[in-house]
Amino acid sequence: MSISIIVAVAENNAIGKDNDLLWHISDDLKRFKKITSGHKIIMGKNTFLSLPVRPLPNRTSIVITDKPSDNYEGCIMAYSIEDAIAKCEKDEECFIIGGGSVYRQFLPFADKLYLTKVDRTYEADIFFPAISEEEWELIEKEDHIDHQNNSLHFSFLTYIRKKS
Ligand SMILES: NC(=O)c1ccc[n+]([C@@H]2O[C@H](COP(=O)([O-])OP(=O)(O)OC[C@H]3O[C@@H](n4cnc5c(N)ncnc54)[C@H](OP(=O)(O)O)[C@@H]3O)[C@@H](O)[C@H]2O)c1
Repeated sequence: MSISIIVAVAENNAIGKDNDLLWHISDDLKRFKKITSGHKIIMGKNTFLSLPVRPLPNRTSIVITDKPSDNYEGCIMAYSIEDAIAKCEKDEECFIIGGGSVYRQFLPFADKLYLTKVDRTYEADIFFPAISEEEWELIEKEDHIDHQNNSLHFSFLTYIRKKS
């Protein structure tokens, strides 16, 4: 099994505020859907509750919580990082889709990062950890401009963990 993180981060590593996203970039949402469809997606409870459609269609949602009383229809519940990993199949690519606390806990175990870098700083209350170039190798970079969003520049970056 491999663990991939998919995340959209601002220049200052901001990813969320008031349990919501910081921007709406249509091409990024389309890419997220394309990459994650048909796979298991692992998320923290706050991220699950922030989604406009719950659970996201065409994917199997694994939601992590400390509270065994929380049970969300159509989702697999997990009670720790290890429990979430155990609920993925051996030969599949599982996607970690947030939020901040779950990204931080999974980053040491991740094999691949699909990172959308938004070239602007945002005020936020949730941040993604800094990526070390000693640990991660950039294998793909695609630059884009969102003309519907004040000519917002963003890039799709794909990293794989360097072999130690
Ligand atoms: N920019 C992006 O790509 C992106 C993607 C996703 C989310 N976000 C943003 O991120 C923010 C949410 O992040 P967040 O850090 O507040 O919340 P989160 O990581 O989504 O969820 C946190 C909750 O998950 C549960 N949890 C996490 N680790 C656990 C563990 N090891 N064992 C048991 N339960 C665990 C706990 O739920 P209980 O309290 O029930 O125990 C915890 O309160 C939002 O603003 C969202 O919009 C951004």
